[in-house]
Amino acid sequence: MPPRENSPTISVATLVPSAVQSDLLLVPVFESDTFADVAGLDEASGHAIGRAIAAGEIKGKLYELFMTPLSGWGAPRVALVGAGARAPFTTERLRRVASAAGLAAKHRHVGRVAWLVRGENAVASAVQASAEGLMLAAFNGDRHKSGERSGPPPAEMIIVAPGADADSASTAARRGQILGESCNLSRDLVNEPANLLTPTVFADRAAEVGRAAGLVVEILNEKQITKLGMGLLLGVAKGSAEPPRVIVLKHEPPGAPESPVLGLVGKGITFDTGGISIKPADGMERMKGDMCGGAAVVAAMRAIAMLKAPIRVIGIVPTTENMPGGRAVKPGDVLTGASGKTIEVVNTDAEGRLVLGDGLWYAQQLGATHLVDVATLTGACVVALGKVASGLFGQPGPWADLVGRTALNAGDRVWPMPLFEEYAEQLRSEVADMTNTGGRPAGACTAAMFVKEFTGGLPWVHLDIAGTSWVDDDKPWQPKGATGVAVRTLAELAFTSSEW
Ligand code: BES
Ligand code: MN
Ligand code: ZN
Repeated sequence: MPPRENSPTISVATLVPSAVQSDLLLVPVFESDTFADVAGLDEASGHAIGRAIAAGEIKGKLYELFMTPLSGWGAPRVALVGAGARAPFTTERLRRVASAAGLAAKHRHVGRVAWLVRGENAVASAVQASAEGLMLAAFNGDRHKSGERSGPPPAEMIIVAPGADADSASTAARRGQILGESCNLSRDLVNEPANLLTPTVFADRAAEVGRAAGLVVEILNEKQITKLGMGLLLGVAKGSAEPPRVIVLKHEPPGAPESPVLGLVGKGITFDTGGISIKPADGMERMKGDMCGGAAVVAAMRAIAMLKAPIRVIGIVPTTENMPGGRAVKPGDVLTGASGKTIEVVNTDAEGRLVLGDGLWYAQQLGATHLVDVATLTGACVVALGKVASGLFGQPGPWADLVGRTALNAGDRVWPMPLFEEYAEQLRSEVADMTNTGGRPAGACTAAMFVKEFTGGLPWVHLDIAGTSWVDDDKPWQPKGATGVAVRTLAELAFTSSEW
């Protein structure tokens, strides 16, 4: 992969906005805004802002944009960015508005932007969400274009939080920056075409990122995978000329307690053709993103190490292609996983749950006490929840609730889905312990029930991100392509162990 552009620097200013030097000042504007808290802004615009409000040109509607020159301020121009109702200004809306503002600045090739924190939110969470939104906006997804590209993001981004405590605001900004950068790392890996991001390359990239962040890195090759008996992963890999890998990243902070140990497992299918149960041609190119769960785990582990989470965390990514081939696994074949369970492969396109099975087994071998897996697992989940929310399955209830709350706070929309025992009946096999598909009804739920069989009864959550890992259309706050879903959730989860 060609190197990324340098990430912008993010700093915090606790001065009044008029005193902050930049090329463009970004200011969220609320419905019925009077700017009472931004003294002198209307005057500095020569009352252009007041006139625009009076004329109904500025209404504070989400993502509307109004730019006008300023005189006598540290910035020669201001961009007002619609932010909706002033209260409650949720951190999720704040993050999106900051991102929309950052994208507007990037498209205008602004070198140094300042973003004004407004609203009633706690300063630290507002500054962190601002930094996340601005970093997400700095992402470029056009690295393989040889002609005109979208240009570098702003070199410098300043978060203006007038009167805030400088130390805690800087800490929050750094946290947001690291989380935002980690999302962008995940997006980069997911956008990368499968000819360039093979399982081997994915593992090499993860090792490089992991070492730089201070993680313990182990990459298991085919021989080691065979020795561990991971017959489900090997079965999926059989049709491919590319060898599989298992990426293992460990965060072992000095002085951390022996337990709990958070185990994160991500589906790492670098390309999913469906195998012998081959997918239709239309849209198959999207299946380069079938390693999004794995990318989220790698990127979250980076953030966990850089932010020095207080507990042990293990990240595991079984990675392979799913290809048809002369040696490929066939419908009706029986595979034996590392846990000893036997699986009748009825549909080779239900490969994600197979590799997760061996990955979850290995997480337990390495001592995980709490499990979360993330996977672009089923089209059925997209049918159920659309592209608006990831499906959240898990047990016991309190653990699933905690992961769900953490996700919503982190800005990853999730919705609870059921694990009714009856779904397991759809996985009954005549010849093996289970089949790998449960037919059409409740496809996301039967997939989750399959995965549950590999969790050893530990607290576990499964996030089905098939619908949320990728967007097909540009939005004011998010360009099309990989989204970086689940990265912030997994990273923030490593800081919640007092509630486990
Ligand atoms: N990777 C796909 C799921 C997927 C679909 C991800 C759409 C992203 C967007 C997964 O491996 C798959 O093929 N699932 C099958 C399962 C079926 C054969 C039981 C599906 O959802 O059709
Ligand atoms: Mn598949
Ligand atoms: Zn898949």
